[in-house]
Amino acid sequence: NNYALIMAGGVGSRFWPVSRTEFPKQFIDFFGVGKTLIQSTYDRFLQICPAENIFIVTNELYVDLIKEQLPALSENQILAEPIMRNTAPCIAYGSMKIAELNPDAVIVVAPSDHTIANQKEFVRAIEQSMEAAAQNKCLITLGIKPNRPDIGYGYIQYIDEVLQSDGSIHKVKTFTEKPNLELAQSFIQSGDFLWNAGIFIWSAKAIASAFEKHLPDMYDIFRQGTPFYNTTNEITFIANAYLQCTNISIDFGIMEKADNVYVLPADFGWSDLGTWASIYEMAEKDYVGNAVIPSKQVMMFDSSNCMVNVPEEKLVILQGLHNYIVVEANNTLLICPRSEEQNVKNIVADVKAKF
Ligand code: GDD
Ligand code: MG
Repeated sequence: NNYALIMAGGVGSRFWPVSRTEFPKQFIDFFGVGKTLIQSTYDRFLQICPAENIFIVTNELYVDLIKEQLPALSENQILAEPIMRNTAPCIAYGSMKIAELNPDAVIVVAPSDHTIANQKEFVRAIEQSMEAAAQNKCLITLGIKPNRPDIGYGYIQYIDEVLQSDGSIHKVKTFTEKPNLELAQSFIQSGDFLWNAGIFIWSAKAIASAFEKHLPDMYDIFRQGTPFYNTTNEITFIANAYLQCTNISIDFGIMEKADNVYVLPADFGWSDLGTWASIYEMAEKDYVGNAVIPSKQVMMFDSSNCMVNVPEEKLVILQGLHNYIVVEANNTLLICPRSEEQNVKNIVADVKAKF
């Protein structure tokens, strides 16, 4: 009964100019390991569920990229969204589609753009959560020990109470999606908060009830289309459905509101490749802290703690540059202090408006 729903419709705008609307980060091999982020994600779930139970929800723009990168998927395993409406509609569509194939499905919902260092521990934590979710009508998320007041994550506070059948999955007291810096700092200082890993485990029934309760309009929109195999034309139905959906993430729409949320504190070398800083953190660095990917023709003099990501054929010379990000792709060059990398997202919006 195990299913995986991989969300792969985001644009990853903080990785601009490498990640762009036409080619977002999940389709990129950031570390030169021979696999893109979505290929690694898919391979991880092959260890957890049968290949035919892995579904991908993505924007219709990326269907061809997915077919190219994951040729083992059949047509019905790729769910195409006509417009971007964030993760709540994506999960509503995906989980209702899976539920009609198997009403007793237990689903792990996961982003397509994370790196996991310890695969074995990852598989163990997901399997434990899936077993618990099969027995309890609850929403389980994985919690990661935070190390900085990052405002790009959800924060989870949990209590001692645990799921009956399981000693280590705790009841969540508060779920705060993307707090402001002040709040994030106070969470970190208090010491009893975890980051939401953005990986959710629940039964098809539990998530359907959560939609019915917290996002009833969205629930109704998709329910009208199920079972999709009876909908004369799923594509037309979905095109209309998405036009009616509000743009909201699962975190704001459901996780912050639901009272049956549980968390499994997990430690499997998780990294959300959210920004260039996270790539820098994970990349191999030389003795003065420069990370260069790929490292063909970059020459650095009296430069330290820089992150350079340029096309292989590009000859780059840096002199006296410290703590900077230097990225070139698609004929666009970005030079930005590492401390200001969160701004890249806003810069992109400006650039797009002008060019
Ligand atoms: N299909 C589809 N459609 N996928 C989407 C859409 C969409 O409209 N929007 C985003 N996604 C995909 C992204 O590609 C990514 O794999 C995943 O959904 C999560 O979206 P992000 O946009 O990356 O979310 P986030 O990183 O800001 O926040 C989430 O993840 C954090 C951990 O990485 C939240 O769950 C936070 O609470 C969490 O801490
Ligand atoms: Mg993310």
